[in-house]
Amino acid sequence: MIIGVPKEIKDREYRVGATPEYVSTLVGAGHSVIVEENAGAAIDFPDEEYRAAGAQIASARDVYEAQMVIKVKEPQMSEFPLLKEGQILFCYLHLAPDPEQTRHLIERKVVGVAYETVTDSHKRLPLLAPMSEIAGRIAVQAGATGLQMINGGRGVLLGGVPGVAPAKVAVLGGGAVGTHAARMAMGLGADVVIFDNNLMRLKELDALYGPRLKTLYSTKAAICKAVAEADLVIGAVLIPGKSAPRLVTEEMVQSMRPGSVVVDVAIDQGGCIETARPTTHTAPYYVMHDVVHYCVTNMPGACARTSTEALTNATLPYALKLAALGYQKALLEDRGLMEGLNVCLGHVTNAHVAHDLGYPYFPPERFIAS
Ligand SMILES: NC(=O)c1ccc[n+]([C@@H]2O[C@H](COP(=O)([O-])OP(=O)(O)OC[C@H]3O[C@@H](n4cnc5c(N)ncnc54)[C@H](O)[C@@H]3O)[C@@H](O)[C@H]2O)c1
Repeated sequence: MIIGVPKEIKDREYRVGATPEYVSTLVGAGHSVIVEENAGAAIDFPDEEYRAAGAQIASARDVYEAQMVIKVKEPQMSEFPLLKEGQILFCYLHLAPDPEQTRHLIERKVVGVAYETVTDSHKRLPLLAPMSEIAGRIAVQAGATGLQMINGGRGVLLGGVPGVAPAKVAVLGGGAVGTHAARMAMGLGADVVIFDNNLMRLKELDALYGPRLKTLYSTKAAICKAVAEADLVIGAVLIPGKSAPRLVTEEMVQSMRPGSVVVDVAIDQGGCIETARPTTHTAPYYVMHDVVHYCVTNMPGACARTSTEALTNATLPYALKLAALGYQKALLEDRGLMEGLNVCLGHVTNAHVAHDLGYPYFPPERFIAS
């Protein structure tokens, strides 16, 4: 198969869909790989390394002629016209809160396999998890920075010091993002409470961290109280494929002390905090109701080298399968990979995306088999 790896063009996005090692594995398996000029240059994957791995270096236009495009983030406006009918697009898509992108992908009739909805045999999200782990950790760093006076914060140090109480951190969602955020915040000495609506998950977290981490079942009243008391709130809930549930209302944000911080990691699914609006690495913070907000939709891009390595470790086996078998056979053989199919040849094949955006739902099984 001919595989294209474009340079990411989202704001300050330096990750790349394939490392030179990844390219070398694809080439070794008999595929041709075209990498866009300077695709990995910013994170010390120069074109020479891609060439040595067997890739051809070319322009974006040539890269998008490939049968499969492997990238990181969803295509941007200038990339839509380059997409081809029947082309496999393997990357993060986050379609439910993004009607514009969904419309373009339907019009271009691509085969969109979204990293974030691929599942494994335990119904976990193996291609979202590595970036979520990184985003969870960055969330605490971003929150700690937001709490500093210079950024409009209330001047509180997360861990406190001997004789001064640490900051209170409330984490909403105890999955990959939430667990890593909680772990990082506890590591810095903060007083952390984590919410989930899955009791089994709360039991697991309790067994993992003991009394150091407070676990609470997700009810409106409990969230309301914790948010009002928190110095830092981290939004990390997910219902796969769906827009995030709005657990923190505008009123709750107004109840926070001036200079407190909210970091809505779930912003890529529309956000779980009502006052959250997408921000970029160029201008990551804004203040609303005297509360500092950080809502960057591609947080792992801040640590692009680590993120690229973690992401490509997870995606490579799936890329190899798609390239070797073509999408129909590959998805039939791996039901978890089939869960990744969000749009296919002009149809919406993810039930949540179809429901949230008002499209007819086309079950992927029927589509692939037909
Ligand atoms: N902004 C970014 O750069 C970035 C990066 C990575 C991940 N994310 C996003 O972060 C979010 C979380 O991802 P994840 O990998 O941790 O997902 P996950 O599936 O591992 O965890 C989500 C958790 O939310 C819980 N949950 C669902 N509904 C809830 C509710 N009403 N109350 C409390 N908990 C609830 C689930 O039980 C689950 O434990 C996703 O939207 C993901 O796309 C964003």
